[in-house]
Amino acid sequence: PRIVVLVSGSGSNLQALINATRERDFPGEIVAVGCNRPDAYALERAKQAGIETFTVDHTLFDSREGFDVALKAEIERHSPDVLVLAGFMRILTADFVRAFHGIMLNIHPSLLPKYTGLNTHQRALDAGDETHGVSIHFVTEDLDGGPVIAQAEVNIASDDTAETLAGKVLTKEHILYPIVLRWFCEGRLQLLGDQACFDGHPI
Ligand code: GRF
Repeated sequence: PRIVVLVSGSGSNLQALINATRERDFPGEIVAVGCNRPDAYALERAKQAGIETFTVDHTLFDSREGFDVALKAEIERHSPDVLVLAGFMRILTADFVRAFHGIMLNIHPSLLPKYTGLNTHQRALDAGDETHGVSIHFVTEDLDGGPVIAQAEVNIASDDTAETLAGKVLTKEHILYPIVLRWFCEGRLQLLGDQACFDGHPI
């Protein structure tokens, strides 16, 4: 299967996926990496791995729709079987999401449905939560609201800060995303209606 990854920042999740997909038995190949920011370090990681990149700079568009149309055209040039959002920091329009229904995955640094949106680590600390974590979900029109596929937990220590918590969560992200992507490439994950399924069983 052909994997396209969308990034916006440092690309540590992309790096984890590059490392995993290079393993001989991995059932998929990253054919392109797309980014909305020309200066993102994630693009450097892709280039160093010999992976084709494309940039659709959102500051050059005067509408969200215009950006999404251009991004969709670039992505479709690569005929993806799966579209992986990895630290991609744009809210996508419903039309865009519909075009990739059932083949678009996202990783979010919280135990969804808690803390959709931004600043998830500080919010978990402020709430006095004892656990936090990461969720990987199918992307639907609800921001960070699609059916959850897998989660990983971290314990919140009394001396944790948003920064230390982010580090713990990021470590789990780098472990979990390659596992979920492997399952998808093996055909073991489907979005049936609004239900995520693993080997045909509702998750
Ligand atoms: C991190 O906050 C991570 O939790 C989230 O996206 C941000 C950057 O990730 N998924 P990356 O290093 O660009 O993959």
